[in-house]
Amino acid sequence: MRTRPLKVALLGCGVVGSEVARIMTAHAEDLAARIGAPVELAGVAVRRPGKVREGIDPALITTDPTALVKRGDIDVVVEVIGGIEPARGLITEAFAHGASVVSANKALLAKDGAALHAAAARYGRDLYYEAAVAGAIPLIRPLRESLAGDKVNRVLGIVNGTTNFILDKMDTTGAGYQEALDEATALGYAEADPTADVEGFDAAAKAAILAGIAFHTRVRLDDVYREGMTEVTSADFASARAMGCTIKLLAICERAADGGSVTARVHPAMLPLSHPLASVREAYNAVFVESEAAGRLMFYGPGAGGSPTASAVLGDLVAVCRNKLGEATGPGESAYTNLPVSAMGEVVTRYHISLDVADKPGVLAQVATVFAEHGVSIDTVRQQSRPDFQDTASDGGEASLVVVTHRAPDAALSGTVEALRGLDTVRGVASIMRVEGE
Ligand SMILES: NC(=O)c1ccc[n+]([C@@H]2O[C@H](COP(=O)([O-])OP(=O)(O)OC[C@H]3O[C@@H](n4cnc5c(N)ncnc54)[C@H](OP(=O)(O)O)[C@@H]3O)[C@@H](O)[C@H]2O)c1
Repeated sequence: MRTRPLKVALLGCGVVGSEVARIMTAHAEDLAARIGAPVELAGVAVRRPGKVREGIDPALITTDPTALVKRGDIDVVVEVIGGIEPARGLITEAFAHGASVVSANKALLAKDGAALHAAAARYGRDLYYEAAVAGAIPLIRPLRESLAGDKVNRVLGIVNGTTNFILDKMDTTGAGYQEALDEATALGYAEADPTADVEGFDAAAKAAILAGIAFHTRVRLDDVYREGMTEVTSADFASARAMGCTIKLLAICERAADGGSVTARVHPAMLPLSHPLASVREAYNAVFVESEAAGRLMFYGPGAGGSPTASAVLGDLVAVCRNKLGEATGPGESAYTNLPVSAMGEVVTRYHISLDVADKPGVLAQVATVFAEHGVSIDTVRQQSRPDFQDTASDGGEASLVVVTHRAPDAALSGTVEALRGLDTVRGVASIMRVEGE
């Protein structure tokens, strides 16, 4: 074994970084044996130098991450600061000054992955980011390496633990969105400002990364269609249960049926209880991959948290250190297929639509005609009178009409809904939800 240690600069020592440092120290001998050389923490960049950081030599702490990455003797930079800047500039400087990089930064990878990969390739360095998607779950490396000989057609994932916790609570306890969010906040699953999670921004960043890797093409954050889950109601869960489904916030990356394009999207969707993702409870993450030769694969585990995320970071650190010793680099960006990313309107899926309609003869036929005119074929219709909406002064009471469609393009469904809103007999469109996983 080489005795001269590989030097690691840790940028950030928060939830993830502190665990990376702890595991590096606690498992130093095992890591050295697995890598073939000891790894040494050479510096730790933080914002608040005065903060007590257990187990970290205060002499290693610096508030000047730029100076740390420019030292010239650093072999690997571990970036766990998060956000776009200064992380982006620091990673680029790291490459220029001889270091490979391990990052957990999904926001940056989704926004600027192509440029960062190009910089890594230019300097002959590694850029690894297993922790950026679904925390501890091995997913990037299986897609990049284990499935490199296969053809992935679809990736369907629960990649945000906060929203899965909230939806699971709504499903199992009957709680409303706000009540479930309050519980998630109290338990530390949701941040004080939960926007990034509940509006699907976090999942969209992960969808962009996953789609790019799965389909060997570039998928930017802006290419990902995104809908949050704040509008999901208890009534939606009741409708889902009536169909033998639950509701999950899904990141869905698909290759079009003709193979000529891909799509990436994040939105709440009804999912049959028989689907493996339906049983993913609480704050767990899981990703379901469908590929041509391997078939259906499921990756499951903790998608966040200091120690689970640090596990993925350490795995990357070992891989990158091994590459360094072998004077090689691992796989870089693979975007050779150059497949275009289609707009949401071209996505083909099924829909569950809940309408409030006038309870009188002929309404069902009128609604069915609108669907037919837009080329959306109806699978089932369920009509129910609503005695709470008796309106004797006008044209009778109100009924709720639940329509489940066969597969249709999203644009066709949008056109249908717009036309339905224009009908006198349709009092309102109570909810529209896509049905996935069949
Ligand atoms: N937390 C998770 O469960 C999780 C899961 C997967 C991926 N990630 C990703 O991991 C990364 C880190 O997340 P985290 O939860 O560990 O964040 P965090 O707890 O907020 O830690 C951020 C660290 O960066 C330091 N920092 C911030 N700005 C800095 C600057 N300008 N210069 C130097 N240091 C700076 C902070 O210093 P101070 O300590 O002095 O404040 C802190 O140590 C993010 O990209 C995140 O998306 C996190």
